Amino acid sequence: MAGVRHEEPEPQGDATRAEGAPLSPFDSGRNPDPCSLVIFGVTGDLTTRKLVPALYDLACHGVLPEAFTIVGYGRKPLDDGSFQAMLSQAIDDFSGPDAVDGSYCRRILRAPRYVQGAFDDLDGFRKLAATLDEIESRAATGGNRAFYLATPPSLFGTIIGKLGESELARRGAYATGAPARSAGQGWTRLVIEKPFGRDLQTARDLNTFVDTVFDERQVYRIDHYLAKETVQNLIVFRFANGIFEPIWNRRYVDHVQITAAETLGVEQRGPYYEETGALRDMITPHLVQLFTLVAMEPPVTFGADAVRDEKVKVLRALHPIPPDQVDQYAVRGQYVEGIVDGQSVPAYRSEEEVSPTSQTETYAAVKLLIDNWRWQGVPFYVRTGKRMAKRVSEIAIQFKRPPFALFRAAGQSETEIGPNVLVMRVQPDEGFSLSVESKVPGQEIRLETVEMEYAYGSALNELPFSAYETVLVDMMEGDGTLFNRGDQVEEAWRAVGPLLEAWQTPPAHGIPIYEAGSWGPEAADALIAGDGRRWRQP
Ligand code: BG6
Repeated sequence: MAGVRHEEPEPQGDATRAEGAPLSPFDSGRNPDPCSLVIFGVTGDLTTRKLVPALYDLACHGVLPEAFTIVGYGRKPLDDGSFQAMLSQAIDDFSGPDAVDGSYCRRILRAPRYVQGAFDDLDGFRKLAATLDEIESRAATGGNRAFYLATPPSLFGTIIGKLGESELARRGAYATGAPARSAGQGWTRLVIEKPFGRDLQTARDLNTFVDTVFDERQVYRIDHYLAKETVQNLIVFRFANGIFEPIWNRRYVDHVQITAAETLGVEQRGPYYEETGALRDMITPHLVQLFTLVAMEPPVTFGADAVRDEKVKVLRALHPIPPDQVDQYAVRGQYVEGIVDGQSVPAYRSEEEVSPTSQTETYAAVKLLIDNWRWQGVPFYVRTGKRMAKRVSEIAIQFKRPPFALFRAAGQSETEIGPNVLVMRVQPDEGFSLSVESKVPGQEIRLETVEMEYAYGSALNELPFSAYETVLVDMMEGDGTLFNRGDQVEEAWRAVGPLLEAWQTPPAHGIPIYEAGSWGPEAADALIAGDGRRWRQP
């Protein structure tokens, strides 16, 4: 996040900076360190669809330092040339149109290196170390190295173990500050994709293991949701404006709804999704983190740890979901065939590599309550689903209605007056709006709800950075604010623990279903209706 830095002992900047400074036709205000980026899992979906296009866009934005080398590591027999061709293909397939001369952006392809080796083969990691030494003897990367785990999670432990054994981990080399320099090294950072564990115990075990190899300040656990421009704006919106903080509490807020609805199904990820489900795929890694941003107290500084400390406190204050009352707090569902965006789509159970009797949830809604002074009694309803009516992610803060209907003469009762709702639209149509009641112009007193609106689309030609561009640059700048710390991940798993436990068993009458193209199962409507409220249909 531009302007916010990891709490590190010394400011960045050393002799390599001038040589490695970005070649920029734009002024992005970002200044990532030169480095080698080692990607594990180069042939996977994530690398081709997200990482390579993000690196390419960063080059187009003029943000990538001149001294930057991509190094692939994997089992496939490839040479540097065919690796380069593979990266080039990913750019052709998944990057948008070039903002500037494509040859300028394609400099990321100038000298990529590929090291062939198995993930559990120490010799392979030694070859990788030799390749990095060789790169550093020629390029001004300052010895900075980032290891990006874009593999299936089952390989995280093996790779981290080998990074330790081969001494590539360089424990403690987390910054370009004094410790690293005195050891004659640049920084070494580990980037880990989600999901981080499957539950509290597995996340704890993985954290403990990571901790034996790396210093926590070297570790960047990705949550690409936190890097979305509009999500970052939530922090600014809350803490750079004086008018919201006094009403951001149980006295004025009725409830909060956080929605991440997708129109996509599970695509080619059937086997992954069968193991994961909506709760593990979206609620724990992404939406619980958004929830903490809405609910946290103001941090004492804007440093990474200060922000993350406040987020963890919210998770610790969560009202525990009683294991025997899970149904009163959460609903799961699975889509059957239906129509999405005018197209007929199959049921989840008919998707590729999905069991025809699957009980995996493709929809989850959870009611979260916080036991603290600010939020006591204010429900946060969090929901996500695949194949929903519309692609929309938003955070809606619904305020309490006025205490009595002053305009009764105009036919209004308390319940007819629309509540004020502040909506942060995460995507698409990024922006925010505040609904207020207003008088319809004319002789009579008639009220209507109007929206005060800010849309990024009309203010900017394009969003400056995609989420993956942001996480890559933040990591290269050593800013951990938008990444999850180990304790955050564990607390998020703890919060949903009773649901994970209860949902291991299919419901007695089968998982509730919803038609593809709808807003989810009826049981989800009943969950919120039981509190006298209803879901928004954005
Ligand atoms: C990923 C999930 O983390 O986020 C996917 O694994 C989901 O299932 C995706 O589709 C949604 O991300 P975005 O940025 O498209 O909203």
